[in-house]
Amino acid sequence: MRVLVVFGTRPEAIKLIPVIQELKKHAPKVETVVCVTSQHREMLDQVLDIFSIKPDHDLDLMQKNQDLASLTATILDNLTGLIRKVQPDWVLVQGDTTTTFTAALAAYYCKVKVAHIEAGLRTGNKYSPFPEEINRCLTGRITDLHFPPTGVSRDNLLKEGIDPDSVWVTGNTVVDALQQIANRLAEENTYKKQFEFIEPDRKIILVTGHRRESFGSNLENICLALKKIAGENNSIQVIYPVHLNPSVWEPVHKILGESKHIHLIYPLDYLAFVYLMSISDLIITDSGGVQEEAPSLGKYVLITRNTTERPEGIEAGVAELVGADTGLIASASKRILNNNTLTPDEIRDKSPYGDGQASSRIVEVLLSGRCNEFM
Ligand code: UD1
Ligand code: UDP
Repeated sequence: MRVLVVFGTRPEAIKLIPVIQELKKHAPKVETVVCVTSQHREMLDQVLDIFSIKPDHDLDLMQKNQDLASLTATILDNLTGLIRKVQPDWVLVQGDTTTTFTAALAAYYCKVKVAHIEAGLRTGNKYSPFPEEINRCLTGRITDLHFPPTGVSRDNLLKEGIDPDSVWVTGNTVVDALQQIANRLAEENTYKKQFEFIEPDRKIILVTGHRRESFGSNLENICLALKKIAGENNSIQVIYPVHLNPSVWEPVHKILGESKHIHLIYPLDYLAFVYLMSISDLIITDSGGVQEEAPSLGKYVLITRNTTERPEGIEAGVAELVGADTGLIASASKRILNNNTLTPDEIRDKSPYGDGQASSRIVEVLLSGRCNEFM
């Protein structure tokens, strides 16, 4: 069996590398071919380097300030040619990016079967998140084998009329990646050098943010909330690895660049970022992956969005939606830092996203058509 694994961005890489590692254990029965579109460049390379993955094909497509239409067209054109050349039995995609959807479409045009990891996440609002909600709905329409991480995401697929025999609940592969890194954190410590700027007498709020629907006034309001939190409280510092998208990088630096106790830093490699999450007191984010990782590390999350396709964390009581409301972000941060009713162990116990076995389940289904599902 030949499997072509296609990805392009940081989160897809983090969540697909454990699956690639698992597939490679089955060589020569399975031939694994890895293609990166490089929709991201530096942020993708950080992940490839940390896990020592060398792609077989690198389309090298990132353009500065790329727009959705031209990115889609270029990936589609390049990938269709590659799929015809490689002739895989399966194209494996993950998540909801432009690379995900376009790779599924290219596979369909070449009449190659598609397996979709992290299938079935939905908000029901086509503009939130934009364009990810439509990317994953369209990918699901093309997909032959669906791997939803949880029962909630499985039910979303079944409500859309997807054949139940093509759906396998696996847990999220991000937990597999996180467990690998957590083991390495105990053995390596050179990454700690870059954190000498951390103020030891202050609690840490870790922030990330990049969603397109937040660009403009919402992102400004989130930054103003961070300024208020760090300015009004003398026991807090904010650490913010800023996403390289110029629509994020530029306004964030303009609003927060001079603020005391707010540390704006370059995106961290995954090892360093997991360490930073593990020593944080609170995480504020709009990231999908971080929403899943934080509870696994015993951290509470404030989600700077109005909707989430990951309601499991909210239902478990380890996350809450705070939108882009300056006052609400500031007051919720204060409440959690001063009076979090849950201990890290309690948060970890409630973590709903996976058990570290998702990749082996996915490969088992690809090879044998069955697995013991994640409950
Ligand atoms: C993309 C995905 C989003 C995912 C996010 C993860 C789409 C439409 N969006 O958003 O679903 O959650 O990645 O981070 O697929 N850039 C760099 N270097 C990098 C990465 C990005 O300079 O390593 C800059 C470039 O100017 C690029 C811009 O960021 O044009 C936007 O990148 P793009 O992948 O189109 O969108 P993201 O906002 O990163
Ligand atoms: N991440 C990272 N370095 C950083 C910020 C985030 O390695 O400086 C990781 C994070 O742990 C998570 C993933 O990147 O696994 C999330 O990526 P992003 O927020 O870009 O995308 P999303 O998950 O929202 O699609």
